[in-house]
Amino acid sequence: MSDSRRAVVLAVGGGIAAYKSAFLCSRLVQSGCEVRVALTRSARNFVGTSTFAALSGKSVATEVFDPEEHPLGSHIELAAGCDLMIVAPATASLLSKFALGQADDLISTLYLQLGSPVLVAPAMSESMWRKAAVQRNVQRLREDGCHFVGPSSGWLSCRTSGEGRMSEPDEILAAAEALFN
Ligand SMILES: Cc1cc2nc3c(=O)[nH]c(=O)nc-3n(C[C@H](O)[C@H](O)[C@H](O)COP(=O)(O)O)c2cc1C
Repeated sequence: MSDSRRAVVLAVGGGIAAYKSAFLCSRLVQSGCEVRVALTRSARNFVGTSTFAALSGKSVATEVFDPEEHPLGSHIELAAGCDLMIVAPATASLLSKFALGQADDLISTLYLQLGSPVLVAPAMSESMWRKAAVQRNVQRLREDGCHFVGPSSGWLSCRTSGEGRMSEPDEILAAAEALFN
């Protein structure tokens, strides 16, 4: 990474690939980024806040309303000074909320607040990924200026192979570096 103190928000959605985002968090930190992590409620079913707090060295944001840690609002404080938001895994639900401009949880509210580029790493079953509604949302987000990495084809947790697998952490890191450069 050329500039060693890039501020990255890693937004983690509720997909099984969230476990790979813990590794991504570590790789971002090792590459010199300052990483703040935001988790959806669903994401916390897959990976705990303690994992991301330890890997990032910072408290983890999970709620819009957090007056002790973020008196101005978590979305305001996370967006301030952010150079890049990486959404990994980006669930079908998050893609839909971003495309609609819906703001009913921390990550969707943060998306609207951000002035920085957004890198989206979708992950879902092939059936979900191929659904017309999901593809419409992806197209809308591309038109809105979001950057995408993946998904790739391969083994999916629903025990099939197909398209919808989240890109590997190092691929996402490389896509982030390309945006920085
Ligand atoms: C075991 C399990 C795995 C899931 N994996 C995914 C996934 O990979 N992608 C996805 O879009 N939704 C997945 N879901 C469904 C989401 O968790 C659900 O749509 C949730 O509302 C997403 O919320 P969020 O976007 O706020 O995290 C999964 C659900 C379960 C129970």
